[in-house]
Amino acid sequence: MRPKLVAANWKMHGSRAMTAQLLGALRDRPPRCEVAVFPPFPYLAQAVELAGQAVSIGAQDVSAHAQGAYTGEVSAAMLADFGARWVLVGHSERRQYHHEDDVLVTAKLERALEQGLSPILCVGETLAERERGEAEVVLARQLATPLHLLGERAADLTIAYEPVWAIGTGRTATAAQAQDAHAFIRSQFAARDAKLSRLIRVLYGGSVKAANAADLFSQPDVDGGLVGGAALDADEFLAICAAAR
Ligand code: PGA
Repeated sequence: MRPKLVAANWKMHGSRAMTAQLLGALRDRPPRCEVAVFPPFPYLAQAVELAGQAVSIGAQDVSAHAQGAYTGEVSAAMLADFGARWVLVGHSERRQYHHEDDVLVTAKLERALEQGLSPILCVGETLAERERGEAEVVLARQLATPLHLLGERAADLTIAYEPVWAIGTGRTATAAQAQDAHAFIRSQFAARDAKLSRLIRVLYGGSVKAANAADLFSQPDVDGGLVGGAALDADEFLAICAAAR
């Protein structure tokens, strides 16, 4: 049985006050499922301090380099030093706006794993790719390089299936579309390691809200969610967590 995980990706939103308010709400009303919160870098230390037992903290990105002259970058060692447990890698906004490719994404996964962080590898197709019938080709491609280069270390990954057309658009994948994609992602692990394919957690992301969370999370291969916009409202996010049983 894979325990459900609900992750809050705040993206470039927030303030010290919002960090205190949202983490305070999670401390006062601890969710029953596992919860990970991903604030912007400047709020990580505050978030780690305020997170109660029920919540762990992660970063939205990490450098592909271990250390050195890389102005503006944040290393995996620094994240671990501040008590971060998780890191998002390969989010579609990083792939789209910062031209991150599968090789760079894999280097980031390697740096994160070296420091004992738990990476959430984000994959997903664009609307044009889905309409061309290429969704599975894209997912297979985005998984191939990390699975090949990480080998046995892939066991420490969590995957987030985030169809780009569903992110921030209000257009959620149907539960059946999510289930199909998650089963396909699991099959990519099965080709290498049958046991791992049963253990690996695959989260759904893309316009998850309280109204659709229970339906999505009830699918057999959906192990929780990566929540953007709806994670900025404590009541809405707690309702999504409550759907993850
Ligand atoms: P959304 O974002 O819930 O606002 O669609 C999800 C994500 O990008 O992780």
